[in-house]
Amino acid sequence: MKILILGVNGFIGNSLVKRIMDTTDWEVYGMDLSCHKLSHSLANPRFKYIEGDISINKEWIEYHVKKCDVVLPLVAIATPKAYVERPLEVFGIDFEENLKVIRYCVKYRKRVIFPSTSEVYGMCTDPEFDEEKSQLVLGPIHKQRWIYSCSKQLMDRVIWAYGAQQKLQFTLIRPFNWIGPKLDDIDSALEGSSRVVTQFIINLVKREPINLVDGGSQKRCFTYVEDGIDCLMEIIKNSDNRCDGQIFNIGAPANECSVKELAERLLGLFQAHPDHAHDPVYSDIIGTSHQDYYGKDYEDILYRRPSIQKARDILGWEPRTSLDDALKYTLDFFLEEIKAMGDDAKVQPRCA
Ligand code: UGA
Repeated sequence: MKILILGVNGFIGNSLVKRIMDTTDWEVYGMDLSCHKLSHSLANPRFKYIEGDISINKEWIEYHVKKCDVVLPLVAIATPKAYVERPLEVFGIDFEENLKVIRYCVKYRKRVIFPSTSEVYGMCTDPEFDEEKSQLVLGPIHKQRWIYSCSKQLMDRVIWAYGAQQKLQFTLIRPFNWIGPKLDDIDSALEGSSRVVTQFIINLVKREPINLVDGGSQKRCFTYVEDGIDCLMEIIKNSDNRCDGQIFNIGAPANECSVKELAERLLGLFQAHPDHAHDPVYSDIIGTSHQDYYGKDYEDILYRRPSIQKARDILGWEPRTSLDDALKYTLDFFLEEIKAMGDDAKVQPRCA
């Protein structure tokens, strides 16, 4: 099988390529702006990487859509700070550029697996979000946070319509707060614009305060990336075409925890780490408001719990990694990466 992955150097893309290289005989063609997360696979002759930009290298993309069997357009801006600060870029990349790729898939009749998002459910009040039944609930237009959710939702609807009207072969996946090694770049965390787990880890390393936005009682279900990749591999295999026209939540409902509890658990794991057990000082956990942290255009999702019954029934999939293990693997990875950077000046404690 030949697979095209756009955004192959991202968090999901790089883990997926590694798994494909380690466990299958498939070939992967991948494009991204850089390849620093791909050192595990660059030397493999079944992996062909090209540096490129989906908004520029259109001929390469069209040629490879035509050449491959399955397309995964994983390029997206996926950090909440960017939704409120750069909403037009989010729409431009997450919707407009990806739509062109979807249209190539329609033109060449290629199967596409598109990353929707847990964020499409927005402020849904169902106890568990269901792919077929749950309402997708977004806030007012001036709350720009929702542009990501809305862009992804519109893409879901367009892909669905291409399936219905033009027989596009597709599967939509909805990752729920996947975490693990290479989740975000250290640089984005240093700027304060990464997702919560990476952000808290960098705060811990720098002995900066950990900020609980609006009290930290909001909850997420954190899913270990390797569990998510297990599910995604089954979807790519698509035995008996069982994933065609389906939407799958991919999450770990048993790993639900509040942001406050997340901060406490990460602090505990950091204090227990052999390199940090005797540090003279640790980060404080403090409160802040969303206005101060993200700006007035932010609105939060108070809980986000997936129903994974469909992935269980159709794919026989089950997430296996506990929250503590997932956090420990993620923390250990980042601490090793920071150590290997050798440039400790970048992450020097400010107040130790
Ligand atoms: C994320 C992103 O939108 C996407 O990566 C993705 O589509 C989706 O969730 C997902 O992975 O399922 P969210 O969970 O809100 O959205 O993003 P985080 O930045 O990880 O924030 C989680 C929670 O932590 C939010 O309530 C946020 O306010 C809080 N937070 C974040 C803090 O309390 N302090 C911080 O320093 C950072």
